[in-house]
Amino acid sequence: MRVVVAGGTGFIGTHLCTELDRRGHHVVALSRSPDGAGLPDGVVLKRGDVTDRNSLEAPVADADVVINLVALSPLFKPDGGDEMHDRIHRRGTETLLDVAEEAGVDRFVQLSALGADPGGPTHYIRAKGRADEAVREADVDHVILQPSVVFGDGGEFVHFTKRLKEIFAPGVPVYPLPGGGQNRFQPIWVGDLVPMVADAVTEPEHASETYELGGPDVLSLREITNLVFDSEGQSVSVVPLPMGLAKVGLSVLGSVGFPMGSDQYRSLQLDNVVSSNDVGAFGAVESDLKPFDEYLGLTGPSDDADEAVAA
Ligand SMILES: NC(=O)c1ccc[n+]([C@@H]2O[C@H](COP(=O)([O-])OP(=O)(O)OC[C@H]3O[C@@H](n4cnc5c(N)ncnc54)[C@H](OP(=O)(O)O)[C@@H]3O)[C@@H](O)[C@H]2O)c1
Repeated sequence: MRVVVAGGTGFIGTHLCTELDRRGHHVVALSRSPDGAGLPDGVVLKRGDVTDRNSLEAPVADADVVINLVALSPLFKPDGGDEMHDRIHRRGTETLLDVAEEAGVDRFVQLSALGADPGGPTHYIRAKGRADEAVREADVDHVILQPSVVFGDGGEFVHFTKRLKEIFAPGVPVYPLPGGGQNRFQPIWVGDLVPMVADAVTEPEHASETYELGGPDVLSLREITNLVFDSEGQSVSVVPLPMGLAKVGLSVLGSVGFPMGSDQYRSLQLDNVVSSNDVGAFGAVESDLKPFDEYLGLTGPSDDADEAVAA
């Protein structure tokens, strides 16, 4: 199949284009500045911007499937308000959908985010929710995937955790986190997610479905933080940072150009956990997915097998 991956040069896109290429698809990775870093030779790079319809028409013209991975990161980008998120996520998706429909594609696959909700609490979540609405309303076969936070090589998640400490407690072994880091995530490994996205491209049973996807463990930000620092042989004590103080700190940092702002502050109060894990729709078993501590090298894949033998 001819598959155009908008945002194919980003973190998930690089892994996904590699998987699609391995499966024998003809893959085009589309972005504003495609540089090819980390992509197999078989993947064709094309320049396109979802805010510029004309730039999308030629790359999408002969596609069978379009996948939308274009995003403003919820973690590291400055707080651009509703307008910036709406421009990239909702209007960008609508423009890409329109071009895809005109090209007569068979399917549009949208990589959304867990909790996407037009009435949600952050600019990112609201814009992702509006984009999902646009995909459902479009006259094209679609699949919407809503993962929790994604970890893996090239991703921002582990780095983000460390950056938070640089903000709140540089150089000391305590780590003040908003609310004590009680909010929970269900991190999924990119190596587990990507085959599901690739299946969504071809398997007919996924048409018109929206899937919530999470990893095998629900972890609080406090637990995640401890694991990240443990994996580097460091020990930190997580202590609660009063929300008011965190809000002021993040807002000030955002306003002076540090890549974090009030949207990130709000994200730090929210759980990001599936209501029901849909990984089974892709033949995966939740408990078989890669745990975050295993990715960090703190446990090995053999631990479970050893326990089973011991039992
Ligand atoms: N990473 C996670 O933890 C996570 C969790 C849940 C959902 N998601 C969703 O998964 C998708 C991919 O995330 P990711 O982490 O791989 O993001 P990423 O690494 O930031 O990649 C974003 C991609 O979009 C491209 N892009 C940005 N603006 C564009 C524009 N105006 N026109 C065309 N391309 C543009 C970027 O390339 P250029 O800058 O060169 O244009 C890049 O290739 C997103 O929809 C995100 O919301 C991610």
